[in-house]
Amino acid sequence: MPGLITMDDLTNDEILQVLNDAERLLPVARGELYLPLLQGKILGNLFFEPSTRTRMSFETAMKRLGGDVVNLGDVNTSSVVKGETLFDTVQMVDGYTDIIAMRHPRQGAAQYAQDAARVPILNGGDGAGHHPTQTMLDLFTIRQAHGRLEGLNVVLAGDLRYGRTVHSLSHALTRFGCTLTFASPELLKMPAEIVSDLRAHGANVVETDDLLGSLPGADVVYMTRIQKERFADEDEYAKVAGAYKLHASNLEHVKEGMIIMHPLPRVDEIHPSVDDTRHARYFEQAFNGVVARMALLCRLLNVDVPANIGGEA
Ligand code: CP
Repeated sequence: MPGLITMDDLTNDEILQVLNDAERLLPVARGELYLPLLQGKILGNLFFEPSTRTRMSFETAMKRLGGDVVNLGDVNTSSVVKGETLFDTVQMVDGYTDIIAMRHPRQGAAQYAQDAARVPILNGGDGAGHHPTQTMLDLFTIRQAHGRLEGLNVVLAGDLRYGRTVHSLSHALTRFGCTLTFASPELLKMPAEIVSDLRAHGANVVETDDLLGSLPGADVVYMTRIQKERFADEDEYAKVAGAYKLHASNLEHVKEGMIIMHPLPRVDEIHPSVDDTRHARYFEQAFNGVVARMALLCRLLNVDVPANIGGEA
């Protein structure tokens, strides 16, 4: 059964349907309403890399919808340490569950898992490759703030080389006609093959190292952490560590409705002074992971989200 490996697995219409489903599920995500749409279903969480938000919001989404979750848990206490292959692990968990959420350090691992499994795989991040469920919650957050996705000016900043969230998001935003500014140090530029692919799909892309100069025209500023764990050489990391630090004092000349997002965790790229400004959206964004993942779980398990949740018949 097909899962969600990259954003290419969803058409624009399907993306919008998932966002609409997610919006209707907000009271369920907040715990105001119990709607056991996924009762009897089991999600398998296979996280071979650290995660807080993706793993926990998948669990919350499943449980709020009446489903259950089994976890691989700490890889070091699993049979992976005895030498079990990813292929065999996925084959086993496929038999225990109805759907699998997986994160793995190797780019392409999610597709490999999907080829081994009969149940749908939700890619929760594969190395520096893709993170499509994050993109769905990012799109939800952007549409929630601006009422649309089309034609926005979006600045993506920080580690564009290794940041899988920005790889998936820039593809999706291109499909909705957004203008993209990639702000990064030279060492962390968006990979050239991604930029040329985006341009081939009609993207209007500007590349710069001037984050502060990019702020005044932006509708969305998407900050990212420098992915220390993906550098082969610590000295290379030291050259770019702390390259961008956004402070509330940098926001004087931005658009009133501009929002600042971050997939989190942050290190030092957004100063806490930004948290209390009207622009900060990163904690709502993290909460939106629950509704976006609820809607995706329903879609991939072929369960319709009712048109009228908690309202009059
Ligand atoms: N945004 C995100 O993927 O966070 P985690 O690494 O905590 O899952």
